[in-house]
Amino acid sequence: MSPLVAWVTSGDEWVAVEDVDRDPVFAALEARGLHVEAAVWDDPAVDWARFDLALLRAPWDYTEHTPAFLAWLDHADGLTQVLNPPGLVRWNLDKRYMADLDRAGVAVVPTAFATSHDEAAAAVQALAAGHVPGVVGVALDGIDEVVVKPTVSAGSRNTGRFAIGDPAALDLAAVILDGGGEVMVQACIPSVALEGERAVVLVDGAVSHVFRKGPILALGGGFVDGTYTEDITPADATDAELATALKVAAALVEIGRDRVWPDAWLPLLYGRIDLVVLPDGTTALLEAELFEPALFVHVAPGAADRFAAAVAARLTR
Ligand SMILES: Nc1ncnc2c1ncn2[C@@H]1O[C@H](COP(=O)(O)OP(=O)(O)O)[C@@H](O)[C@H]1O
Ligand SMILES: [Mg+2]
Repeated sequence: MSPLVAWVTSGDEWVAVEDVDRDPVFAALEARGLHVEAAVWDDPAVDWARFDLALLRAPWDYTEHTPAFLAWLDHADGLTQVLNPPGLVRWNLDKRYMADLDRAGVAVVPTAFATSHDEAAAAVQALAAGHVPGVVGVALDGIDEVVVKPTVSAGSRNTGRFAIGDPAALDLAAVILDGGGEVMVQACIPSVALEGERAVVLVDGAVSHVFRKGPILALGGGFVDGTYTEDITPADATDAELATALKVAAALVEIGRDRVWPDAWLPLLYGRIDLVVLPDGTTALLEAELFEPALFVHVAPGAADRFAAAVAARLTR
């Protein structure tokens, strides 16, 4: 019988539209003789034991239901193979992982974390002052804007770009904290507003394709053009970008030893390394999306099939 793969998604109707990888990857999996079905992670009717593999692809409402999602992850993990592996997902779900990658020697965007209003105010001041204790990442002077966001987030939820001193930055921090979340404040990287970010997609540890995502945040809170829009175009990565992406992948081996994802799961089946260029020219990590990134396979010939081939290989191990 053909192996059966679950494409793990959320139940929101908009996800079926926004998840642009679904159709091309379904076709590529079917072409390789695998069956694939979309399955909603919190649908109690799903029997996860039916599946040979549960592929975490678009469970994007985990940000609003994090404890339930983590409990589901444990549940599914006992019934089928879940990829990327649950231990890594738990680590990658909270952007505090940026501090671990910083410690591992990856150049990360200057970032400070806050669990209270006072800490959020201090975080903005610390970033404005350059590299002071409490800020992880590349030392950067002359910062005049910050980005405030939750540590558990996707799709630019509760994410805003503000001038230093704009009280709206702390208002957004308060919204995040009042909702039970924790805050991260980053130096706003000017190149993102100009040219966007560059994403290096890794499949089985190797570079599959690269794309550019246009600017999303408008200064003062809100989105460029008023709505959340992902403008995706194919791109080439610089050598520095490729090197940084592979450095993140390599760092996972070390970090995984202290946490719980066995070496056997590495290289990762998939991951997306989002990179920016700092004012001094350094390539730095904006985020490492290691369990639910849109891969935008349609921008790169062969990408859907490379992904499908990697999935198929996991099923014949
Ligand atoms: N430090 C930053 N500097 C400039 N722009 C940023 C920064 N952080 C986030 N952004 C913008 O906000 C968007 C969403 O933030 P991101 O960190 O990618 O979180 P997520 O994609 O998980 O919502 C990014 O795609 C980028 O356009
Ligand atoms: Mg992002």
